[in-house]
Amino acid sequence: MSRMLDYPPLSLRISVTDRCQLRCVYCTPRAAGTARRSARLTFDEILRFVRAVQGRLALRKVHLTGGEPLCRPRIADLVRSLAGEGIGELALTTNGQRLTKLAPTLKRAGLRRVNVSLDSLDPQVFYTLTGGGRLADTLAGLDAALECGLGPVKLNTVVLRGYNDSEVVSLARYGLERGCHVRFLELMPIGCIRRRFARLFVSSAEVQSRLQRAFRFEPLPRAPSASSQDFRVRGDRDLEGTLGFISPESAPFCAGCTRLRLTSTGQLIACLARGTGLRVAGLLRSNAPEAMERLQEIVGALLARKQARASFGAAQPMLAVGG
Ligand code: 5AD
Ligand code: SF4
Repeated sequence: MSRMLDYPPLSLRISVTDRCQLRCVYCTPRAAGTARRSARLTFDEILRFVRAVQGRLALRKVHLTGGEPLCRPRIADLVRSLAGEGIGELALTTNGQRLTKLAPTLKRAGLRRVNVSLDSLDPQVFYTLTGGGRLADTLAGLDAALECGLGPVKLNTVVLRGYNDSEVVSLARYGLERGCHVRFLELMPIGCIRRRFARLFVSSAEVQSRLQRAFRFEPLPRAPSASSQDFRVRGDRDLEGTLGFISPESAPFCAGCTRLRLTSTGQLIACLARGTGLRVAGLLRSNAPEAMERLQEIVGALLARKQARASFGAAQPMLAVGG
């Protein structure tokens, strides 16, 4: 008999490939290569995982990521299967380069919405930041997503000093004019960017003060599990909408985090900042009758540890104020 776990509704982030046609400065030195295709989870294995989790937990959301998820062949087939699982929200994060072609297919397959990464509106800066991306393709992809109803679209911008920090007002305008929820992300010191982190980092407070020259801000309530602090903003010419900041450095949101990640090769990761993966690919490939039960136990144990760490993290500011 399976028991439901006492845990808030989970947000599952599933990476469907570690490949990407771009090389964003803050993400990839993919020269190191990608995993063998045979090491990648199949769609059936991913579905098995989702069903195992659903046997013990409420799933608030499944979010497909990469690498670049649209680089995975027949991704719409996975979307169609997941859409049949009755998950509250089914979303995908993309660099938008292939979205013009794929948006209608994804919509038909049952995808609810997309997040699109957009770091610059200058074709040359975009090219440099993404290691060869074509701005026009991402902008056309965004339009295609909006046209076929894959909204509300969240536009994600990682702000980097000297690259795109002077563009935050125009990026915000561009997104708001199209009814997108615009989000500015603080750079995280992970992977290849670590060495240059201090020089490139721009805090959300600094981004907000730049934006305040063009917009009036009104804070919106924040759900405990939300990664972003959102605002209603109003600018000139009746421009208005919502905008958010994701601030992993200046305001970590670990306490309420209910995310669990599955990598494309079948590693479970509870926390991006501290995570080393736990291999579950073997269990997903096993025909042993106890494999699913074992998988559910692992997920449960991982989440219990995550919760314990999160409350410890939440206690920190109290210590700091001597409370
Ligand atoms: N810092 C912040 N955000 C990052 N992303 C990837 N690497 C980093 C990093 N070092 C985010 C970007 C991108 C999405 C796929 O992942 O928002 O749009
Ligand atoms: Fe990384 Fe996404 Fe950029 Fe690809 S588009 S290099 S996965 S951040």
